[in-house]
Amino acid sequence: MQQFLMKGGIPLHGEVTIGGAKNAALGILAAAIMTDEPVTLENLPDVSDINVMLRAIEDIGGEVERLNRHTVTIVASSIHTDKVLYDYIRGIRASYYLIGALIGKRRRAEVALPGGCAIGARPIDQHTKGFVALGVKQEVTEYGSYKVEADDLHGANIFFDVVSVGATINVMLAAVLAPGRTVMYSAAKEPHVVDVANLLNRMGARILGAGTDKIIIRGVEKLHGCTYPIVPDQIEAGTFMMAAAATRGDIVLKNVIPRHLEVISQKLRETGCKVENYDDAVRVIGAENLKYTNVKTSPYPGFPTDMQPQIAVVLTMAKGNSIITESIFENRFAYVEQLKAMGADINVNDKGDEAYITGVDQLRGCKVQAPDLRAGAALVIAGLSADGYTFVDDIKYILRGYEDFEVKLQKLGAQIVRTESDKDVEAFMELTRNKTLSFDLDLKRRMNQ
Ligand code: UD1
Repeated sequence: MQQFLMKGGIPLHGEVTIGGAKNAALGILAAAIMTDEPVTLENLPDVSDINVMLRAIEDIGGEVERLNRHTVTIVASSIHTDKVLYDYIRGIRASYYLIGALIGKRRRAEVALPGGCAIGARPIDQHTKGFVALGVKQEVTEYGSYKVEADDLHGANIFFDVVSVGATINVMLAAVLAPGRTVMYSAAKEPHVVDVANLLNRMGARILGAGTDKIIIRGVEKLHGCTYPIVPDQIEAGTFMMAAAATRGDIVLKNVIPRHLEVISQKLRETGCKVENYDDAVRVIGAENLKYTNVKTSPYPGFPTDMQPQIAVVLTMAKGNSIITESIFENRFAYVEQLKAMGADINVNDKGDEAYITGVDQLRGCKVQAPDLRAGAALVIAGLSADGYTFVDDIKYILRGYEDFEVKLQKLGAQIVRTESDKDVEAFMELTRNKTLSFDLDLKRRMNQ
């Protein structure tokens, strides 16, 4: 099994280029199958969740041509089925976007119900509420797939009870090809919602108000092809910002939209870090003495739940008592026991929605397991700041959302490798034992010599 192995204690320095947003790209890939004309997507991240979605598009008959690592052209004219029942598709949460896209394109769909990170109950009642309002008939089959028919698809007013990124995007996908006018109230405002809407508008949809809590859609008869660059990943950027803070480093993040990072920057400033904004870059200078702060997750423009584990790591080393309140998902503190093993003073209340942290001077390296995608990335940050060696197991979760994570960190000076065998571990230990040895970016090659 692959793991990340790192030797901590080195402040990260240098530049890192942020990739396209995974969560936007998942909605955008679904949208791309809604026209028969070619859709070329640029800045597509090469991560496993995206590759699962591309595979599903191919398996239902779509053509996927990879022009380079981050650019694909999708031609969906030969899609021959509305059934997406492959077991592997359950592994990603965003499989449900294929329901909205197929409702729009074929007026029917049957998709294996979604999985994704085990961070809470994650119901889809708001998606189905929206679909039903649009005239969709639905059933859950005995083998656990979600089946819909929409012979009378039409616009509708939809009042979401919960602000949901997934439901907003999914219902938007179905509504752009639904005759009439759809208005979604209490819509999610996340950058990925706006990005999917921008792509759809470029394909000929008529969506107004994406990025506000009221989205108005006038249904069109068909969509057409286009070329579209995916927005930079707010969460990948935020993760590197936290890595700079936790290691007391100094990092410039390129290819970002600073506006999307404002709340993350503000929290880092509260801990004493400096954050400088440029047009499409952000520089984070870690504070030598981090200060406590409190964080509460909430929908955009609030503090993202997907950044909660990473800031928790920073706060474990911040002087004073911090409180983190998780208000989006029920099970987002699965990493706490792992951080405790690394010497953090962090405890979760009985209800499971608050973590109380008292800063310690230093974490210590040990063997930990990534419980989910973002918590896994947080444990890597912890390992990079800790004294000694840290092994992070179960990195399949991390690979779902971070492209070349360890390579980008190595370029910032981190001593981290992806190991597959005891031989790799021994070679890494040997190379890093001598503290004066400068770390080789091409470490893997040297290890295999
Ligand atoms: C998306 C992101 C995920 C992020 C989350 C919140 C993707 C693929 N995943 O997940 O990384 O953590 O947004 O920013 O984009 N809810 C309901 N009923 C529903 C739908 C959601 O009650 O039908 C609840 C959820 O349980 C949760 C809250 O609404 O408490 C927000 O969930 P939602 O925004 O839908 O998250 P996802 O789209 O699953």
